[in-house]
Parts: sequence; structure tokens; C-alpha cells
Amino acid sequence: MFQSPPLLAALLISFALGSVYSIEDIPDVDGDRDFGIQSFSLSLGQEKGKVRLGSGNLTVWFHKEKSNPFINTKSSGRISMAVAVNVSRFEGITMAPPDPILGVSEAFKADNDEKKLNLGVGAYRTEELQPYVLNVVKKAENLMLERGEYKEYLPIEGLAAFNKVTAELLLGADNTVIKQQRVATVQGLSGTGSLRLAAALIERYFPGAKVLISSPTWGNHKNIFNDARVPWSEYRYYDPKTVGLDFEGMIADLKAAPEGSFILLHGCAHNPTGIDPTPEQWEKIADVIQEKNHIPFFDVAYQGFASGSLDADAASVRLFAARGMELLVAQSYSKNLGLYAERIGAINVICSSVDAAARVKSQLKRLARPMYSNPPVHGARIVANVVGDPTLFDEWKAEMDMMAGRIKGVRQKLFDSLSAKDKSGKDWSLYKADWHVLLHRIEQSSVKIQRKPTSRSNKKKESENMTNKWHVYMTKDGRISLAGLNLAKCEYLADAIVDSYHNAKGLNSV
Ligand SMILES: Cc1ncc(COP(=O)(O)O)c(C=O)c1O
Repeated sequence: MFQSPPLLAALLISFALGSVYSIEDIPDVDGDRDFGIQSFSLSLGQEKGKVRLGSGNLTVWFHKEKSNPFINTKSSGRISMAVAVNVSRFEGITMAPPDPILGVSEAFKADNDEKKLNLGVGAYRTEELQPYVLNVVKKAENLMLERGEYKEYLPIEGLAAFNKVTAELLLGADNTVIKQQRVATVQGLSGTGSLRLAAALIERYFPGAKVLISSPTWGNHKNIFNDARVPWSEYRYYDPKTVGLDFEGMIADLKAAPEGSFILLHGCAHNPTGIDPTPEQWEKIADVIQEKNHIPFFDVAYQGFASGSLDADAASVRLFAARGMELLVAQSYSKNLGLYAERIGAINVICSSVDAAARVKSQLKRLARPMYSNPPVHGARIVANVVGDPTLFDEWKAEMDMMAGRIKGVRQKLFDSLSAKDKSGKDWSLYKADWHVLLHRIEQSSVKIQRKPTSRSNKKKESENMTNKWHVYMTKDGRISLAGLNLAKCEYLADAIVDSYHNAKGLNSV
């Protein structure tokens, strides 16, 4: 209960002094047990002072005394009290580990070697390895300046013009679900925020329902559901033996999941594997989801970036919608419009009736209000201007094609370099298949460099060799983002990979 003696000491001292503390444990939920969450909020000197500790049966209320000498004092007085007993009221807060993806960028910044290469974060770079702002984005921003757009609050659900175009871009403007107004669209804080809002909806209205996520998946999915206290488990997805989709395993796991589960699917360019189901496999997946009464939940973070076609990349989502299924779709404009820092995306819930869509939207707004009140306007206006203007829209498609084409060229060169450099005589067919498959695989944001079944520690050694010896930064699971590579560095990267395969201890023993 009292995990931290210093915290307890601080509480008792403050109580003795008549100060008023209020500690409220987040209500006991399964998450506390499952994830070992020990959360509390602590505030001082509130009118209805109380101490409520623990998530079990013990609830202690300490009432404020009228004569409390601290009631009207400023918080600085209470801070000096804490200093006096040399105890921070944040004593119980341990150091969080660095984020596995964003932490890579921090380590990259600290490296002074001129050969260093950051392939950790999935952000697009130019041939000069510089961040890229799309021309259409600049044009849309100029338009906004010319129009003298205001900066007042948006409604909770976001910019109406954005919500309209984003649903149309996803589903096609002619889609029946749009015409029948069966889509509840709410602007979100990019892909992550939109997923988080949907997770909050699941937590509130589908208590106990499980979300099934692919193994592996984008690292933040698990965080999102953990923090929303939504239980999740994994379904098989990547098969290292075939370097492809474990379709049988996936289907078996979807069948075995409790009826009515949410199935998280990557709409295109699966992160981190880059492997997407074929159209036939999508049909079969939809069959099983329908049979089991599951609810599909798409994460679409790369529309247009995968194949170069906005429509082709939305085909999976449209297939499910055409079957009349209810589904959730989170969208992001971080990659395809390069709007990473604008935090622009949306959550769409396709419902079976207009009425249900209206109710769902009202609840999404209700969930959003206490979280962030209303979303930012800048990115929403950019998307609305680009997608809503036929000329800018065409220019965007051409620019997206250019970006996808650059990544494709880089991958070809990397494959050629790897094939040319490795003279070990070792049977590399599996790896070759890997790179070969990669070359023929649809465009993607990231790839695994280690396909061969190998132990966790070997994978770690390989990644460590890449970073410590070659200054190539990547996530520890071996994911590299080729959007951050240029032609000039392909040879260097190939050297690093070949060396890591051969010389990182233990790699050849598999
Ligand atoms: C699969 C997937 N979903 C969602 C996101 C969310 O990105 P953002 O929050 O920047 O839109 C990403 C980003 O890398 C991703 O790869």
C-alpha cells in the first residue's frame, strides 16, 4: 500500500501539521494488476481535503480542519516543508526508460561521428538526409496566410472541412457509408492520438473486450492500450521461416479469440515487417472477423506511401466497409504529407446506422473534451486545403510518388550492395530471399534486417554492433527505416549489415 516510506513520512508529517493533502488512487481495475500500475494524484490544500489511499478496501479520509494554518498560505510554504525533511513528494516516481523509438534519436544526437546514420525513426529524408517539407504543404500554408485565417478554438470534433475530406480520402467520396452519413469522424492528435481516443471508447463502452494486435507491431500500440487499460493479446503475423505472413497462424488466432474482440489491422505497409496480406487473404480475414463477430480496427498510417496510390492503400479498409461491417479506422498524415509535428489525423467509426454514428461521435467528443479539449487547427487546414483543392491534390500525389520512388531506389541499391559485398560463401538464401522479397514487396516505411529465427540476445548483439561499431542507429529489435537512408550511404550500410551478420558474436551459431 505505502510503497514508499519517504512518501508515507511526508504524509504523516503534513497531517500532523494540519496541512491538507488529497491523494486519489485511480480506481482499481484489472490494469493495476496486469500492468503493475501504481498511479496516484497528489494535491495540496484543497477545500474538500482528504486522503484516500490504496486500490483495495482501505480508504482513509482525513478531513480538513478549519484552523489549519496552511489553508491560506501559498504552495511555496509547503515546498519548504518538504525540503526541511529532505523528502520529495515525487519520491515514489521511478525513472522511466527511454522510449525505444524516440530514444534512438536522442542517442544519435549525442554521437559525434560524422559517419553516423539514424534509421530509427520512420521519418522521410531527402537525398541530402535533410527533413523534407512538401511543396504542397508550403503552398497550402501560403494560402492560409493570404486568407488571414484566425486561430480561434476548433470545435471538439475538429475542423469540419478536414473531417469531410479525410473520410472521403479514406473511403472514397462515393462510398455508400459516406453518402448515408454512417461515418463518425473526429479529428485526432495524429495517428497516435486517434488510436488513443478509440482505445478510450473501447475501454468505456466495451468493458473487458480484448484488442488483438499483430506480432510484431508498431511499438506504441501496446503502450496505447496499456494506458487506456484495454486488455490486449497478440495474433501471429510474421513467419521468420518464410519471411512472410503467417497466414494460417493469424487465421487460427483470430478464430480462437473471444467473440466480439477488436482486431487491430495495419491498413497497408505493416510496421515493422512491411508485409501486407494479399487481396484474397484480406477477404479471408474479413470472413473470419465476420464469423466471430469481431470488430475490425484499422490503423492507416501510410496511405499513399505504400504503393504510391491513395486508393490502392485504402483497399483493405474499403473491402471491409463494402461488406457492411462496422469498423474503426485511425488515420495519420505524419508520413504521407510529412506533417509529423502538426499532429494531424482522425478516428473514423463506420456504423451500421446514421443514428449509431451520431451517438458514437457524441461520445468521442465527450472523451476528447477532458483529454485535450479540442484539436490543433494548423495541420487540419493544410490537409483540407491540399485534399480539397484539385490542383494541390494532384501535386500532392506526384510528390508522394517522388518520395516513394526515392525509397524504392535506395532499397534497390542497398540490395545490390549487400549482394556484391558478401563473399563468405555462406548460404545466404534466406537472407537473400529476405532482401529479394523486400525489393519486390510493396513500399514500406521500415524493414527488419534480421529475418532468420534467432535468439533475442543475438538480435541485440547485432543491433549493438550496428550502433557501437558503425554508428548506425536503429531500434533494438533490428528495425531500420529506409525512408531515412540515401543512395550515398547504401554501401556503408551494406558493410555494416554484412559485418553485423558475420561478426556480431553468436550470429552464425543460429
Ligand atoms: C503503424 C503506425 N501507426 C501509427 C503511427 C502514428 O504516427 P503519428 O502519431 O505520428 O501519426 C505510426 C508512426 O510511426 C505507425 O507506424
